[in-house]
Amino acid sequence: MTVINEIYNYENKVAVITGGSRNIGKNVANALIEKGAKVIIGDILDREGQKTVEEFNSRVGKHVASFLHTDVTKYKDLMELFQLAENTFGGVDIVFLNAGITLDHDILLDPLDDEQDEKIMNVNTMGIIKGTKVAVRHLNKRGGGVIVATSSALGLEAYSYTSMYNASKHAVVGWIKSFEHLPSVCNVRINAVCPYAVETDFLKQFPKPMVRLTQSINSIPVDMDTVIKAVILLIEDKKRNGN
Ligand SMILES: NC(=O)c1ccc[n+]([C@@H]2O[C@H](COP(=O)([O-])OP(=O)(O)OC[C@H]3O[C@@H](n4cnc5c(N)ncnc54)[C@H](O)[C@@H]3O)[C@@H](O)[C@H]2O)c1
Repeated sequence: MTVINEIYNYENKVAVITGGSRNIGKNVANALIEKGAKVIIGDILDREGQKTVEEFNSRVGKHVASFLHTDVTKYKDLMELFQLAENTFGGVDIVFLNAGITLDHDILLDPLDDEQDEKIMNVNTMGIIKGTKVAVRHLNKRGGGVIVATSSALGLEAYSYTSMYNASKHAVVGWIKSFEHLPSVCNVRINAVCPYAVETDFLKQFPKPMVRLTQSINSIPVDMDTVIKAVILLIEDKKRNGN
């Protein structure tokens, strides 16, 4: 059992969450708000994102969340998202880089299309690399903080039919493992959560043979609470970095 070395105080903490309009991102945002943090959500799903923050604000009865249209593949959008956190709530302490996409088929025999083939890497991998770079600059202004990136069980092992997704999520794990030195440089910790299949809209987009494979394994699906607990653990446990 992991023992959290110090109580993490969420009061006056501000979290930036990408891909937070729905599902995993939204549930983590909700958990952080319940613990007392403020949240800024960036996503390309504007209607759902706006609805999500309105839901949070009306439940708590004060302004605890804002939404901004953000495409994580664009530095400009990411910079505006983090700036919104600074302008609205005074800065950034927690970053959850969670936006991600998949495909409903394997691309191996698809037409040789630069834009199409680079799309998953751009969102799942470059979105996290760019997000980390922008995040570190803002966390540094608060004297440090914590980043959690969403990889996947398919960032640690690989199944057939999802080769491009496997590659994009393995790259995230490589990126995260590269930062053993980060806490000593700028007091920022960075870790990845690697969930197995979680019952969300996302899972429905996976290639059908892959979905059948996951359904045949009896530990599936992983429930949302397990993923939330893992993210919270990675935020709170000060001994964890590059995990
Ligand atoms: N559901 C699963 O089984 C599972 C398992 C392992 C990892 N994951 C990862 O968890 C994360 C969240 O997935 P989810 O299950 O909540 O699915 P989801 O599709 O509901 O969430 C992904 C979010 O990312 C957003 N997004 C996509 N492209 C974007 C872009 N360019 N810029 C900003 N936002 C963008 C989507 O609009 C969506 O809100 C993803 O990174 C996914 O790869 C999911």
